[in-house]
Amino acid sequence: MLATLTIDGQRRRVLMQANKNGFFYELDPATGKLVSARPYAEINWATGIDSNGRPMENAATRQLKDATIVKPSSAGAHNWHPLSFNPVTGLVYMGVLDATSIQAVTSGWKINLHDQTTGLDRGYVGPVRKQWLTLKPSGRLVAWDPAAQREAWHVELPDPGSGGTLSTAGNLVFQGRADGKLRAYRATDGKLLWEFDAGIGIMAPPMTYQVDGTQYIAVLAGWGGPEVLGNRATGKGKVAPGKLLSFSLGGSATLPPYERVVQPVPMPTFQLTASRPEIEKGRVLYATFCARCHGAEVVSGGLVFDLRYTPAGTHEKFEEIVRGGAAREFGMPSFSEDLTPAQVRLVQAYVLDRARESARTEAASR
Ligand code: HEC
Repeated sequence: MLATLTIDGQRRRVLMQANKNGFFYELDPATGKLVSARPYAEINWATGIDSNGRPMENAATRQLKDATIVKPSSAGAHNWHPLSFNPVTGLVYMGVLDATSIQAVTSGWKINLHDQTTGLDRGYVGPVRKQWLTLKPSGRLVAWDPAAQREAWHVELPDPGSGGTLSTAGNLVFQGRADGKLRAYRATDGKLLWEFDAGIGIMAPPMTYQVDGTQYIAVLAGWGGPEVLGNRATGKGKVAPGKLLSFSLGGSATLPPYERVVQPVPMPTFQLTASRPEIEKGRVLYATFCARCHGAEVVSGGLVFDLRYTPAGTHEKFEEIVRGGAAREFGMPSFSEDLTPAQVRLVQAYVLDRARESARTEAASR
């Protein structure tokens, strides 16, 4: 984003970016030279940015021994969701995600172009993973003072995922959230002024326009994309039919309520015998090839079929679907180049194990 700021008493044109890596960069738009960079979220991979704009890496994060917990997560401290700058308040408004990634290192790792090429060892089950699983991500709406390079105020979000922002001359900031709430805050201090329940998670930034003297705020309400598919760091979010909503002062239209009904996971009837070590191999293969769409630990983000609900009839055709490409027209790729029939059975055994576990715990909690 381009803006003119007063930095140390001098008017200065800057290009601003809240980088995924956790630093808020300000550059000279004409030369690309660094003006300043400061962390806007909790980070541990670097201690700062030097005067050339290069990160000063934290050597401890690169020790390449067992495994390392990296902050921010691979989803970024801030992702694509647009930021807004309000020249009246001088503040930038943005969603911030405090989450972590685990990077476990294997010496025998080989590049696989069908997988993410980050060297991640998904078979790693050591102590760092146990610690990592206890870390819960959190999200905030942050008002950042770019002239001073520090936070002015923030609002905690109940679900870490949040949408882009819009700030208006009326001292307002609008932001949609994973839980479907579109909110308006006072831009100077973050006081909540208004809220609307869209019934669906909101990722896009609201926008504003005027017709015949009436100002409208519009937002494309919808919850999707890779963060929701993978369903790890960014929370659950409300999945529902997407809509375009527009608001004005005195507007009277109402939205019919939508509540997504999630049935309990049924106890699978399909039988497949597998040992614990085989199920563990299936877990690693699932995490490598399936989790990015069907969700971490076989819990879908709601966009793609939750495999714990797979009926016996589909389990019979599991290999036809996974290697044979039988569901390709619905967006399910073929993994014939990545998985052998024996490996597909391991994945299937893990999926069934997760389904049984979910059916048992839900039955116990009912
Ligand atoms: C690129 C995204 C993507 C990946 C990766 C992916 N799937 Fe799918 N899968 C889909 C989509 C989309 C569907 C169709 C869902 C629907 O019909 O609602 C599907 C459907 C399925 C179905 C059929 C479910 C049913 O009852 O119709 C099975 C079984 C399945 N996937 C297994 C797997 C397995 C096992 C893996 C990993 C080896 C995997 N998928 C990886 C996207 C993906």
